[in-house]
Amino acid sequence: MPVLNRIADYAEDMKVWRQWLHRHPEIGFDCHGTAAFVAERLREFGVDEIHEGIARSGVVAIINGTGEGPTIGLRADMDALPMQEQTGLPYASEVEGRMHACGHDGHTTMLLGAARYLAETRRFKGRVALVFQPAEEDGGGAGIMVEEGVLNRFGIKEIYAIHSAPGTRLGEFYTTPGPIMAAVDDFSIHIKGKGGHAAMPHETVDPIMAAVGIVQALQTIPSRNHYALQDLVLSVTQIHAGSANNVVPEGAFINGTVRTFDKDVQDMVIRRMHEVVAGQAAAFGVTAELDYHKEYPATINDPAKTDFAADVAEEVAGQGRVDRNAGREMGAEDFAYFLEQCAGAYLFIGNGDSAGLHHPEYNFNDEAAPLGASFFATLVERALPLGS
Ligand code: NI
Repeated sequence: MPVLNRIADYAEDMKVWRQWLHRHPEIGFDCHGTAAFVAERLREFGVDEIHEGIARSGVVAIINGTGEGPTIGLRADMDALPMQEQTGLPYASEVEGRMHACGHDGHTTMLLGAARYLAETRRFKGRVALVFQPAEEDGGGAGIMVEEGVLNRFGIKEIYAIHSAPGTRLGEFYTTPGPIMAAVDDFSIHIKGKGGHAAMPHETVDPIMAAVGIVQALQTIPSRNHYALQDLVLSVTQIHAGSANNVVPEGAFINGTVRTFDKDVQDMVIRRMHEVVAGQAAAFGVTAELDYHKEYPATINDPAKTDFAADVAEEVAGQGRVDRNAGREMGAEDFAYFLEQCAGAYLFIGNGDSAGLHHPEYNFNDEAAPLGASFFATLVERALPLGS
């Protein structure tokens, strides 16, 4: 029983919605056109409540079931990325320099598909809160929704989300109990030396030597200060300095990212980075200032809810098509903010053999949409069964 029959009936409608969303990508918190499209569909479906303007352009809709019961949250992200699409599709982005390269057009569509089915059939007790959030890619829209009290206001006690997974076969799901996505931090280092003529380096204080020293020394944090069986990534991703072959520049700039799961590891990295930067600066006679920012926390799946969600995924996808212990990844996801406050699970849904996420040729697979919508709908019917 792969897809709910009623949902299969409007697979074509879902394709139309998804391709409209794909043509009109929006960025960050400014997902107003997307939110308006979502609210319009939800009104057509006859949901019971629509709350707009949460976290600027987020939407929460409520569907009441048949009889009293708790509220279950289902979440989709709506935002796109600031990059140029190269798919050549007839419904490619109509906005220069913006595209849906992470499948959030598909996530929004899958949740809309579930909303239509649930509003029509209402074969569950309690109620469903459909959470459409902006700013997943940058800005932490989920965190702002939590700060604005979405979970308490709507009494959400458990919450679920799915994400498109290129390279995983269509119709397959995977997840993992406990930590699934890493905490992401970023840092920048401003180095100030003394510029001058490159033929007279003794009259300068070379910030490039200091930058190279700092970058090399930072790599000793994962390799020498850290217990090898715990996850840690420290990547320097930019070094900028200089403007000519015969000038020692005045300063240099470094930045990068740190990924962790464990707070003690994160604290150790922050402490050692300050020590390494200060020590290297002293060694090279420059001043160096480290700015370190904690961004999204780690995404931690509740083991029992993950097991339950994996059972539902198996009911939709079929035996042997759900990897329920796929392991964690060093990528990050702001759904973490919801899971910090209430139990739930985050799963991936196969997109087939497509370009990777955040690639200019990536495209959400429309054939995945009825599966994802069936997953959400079945999850509600199993979590809040009638007559229980
Ligand atoms: Ni994404």
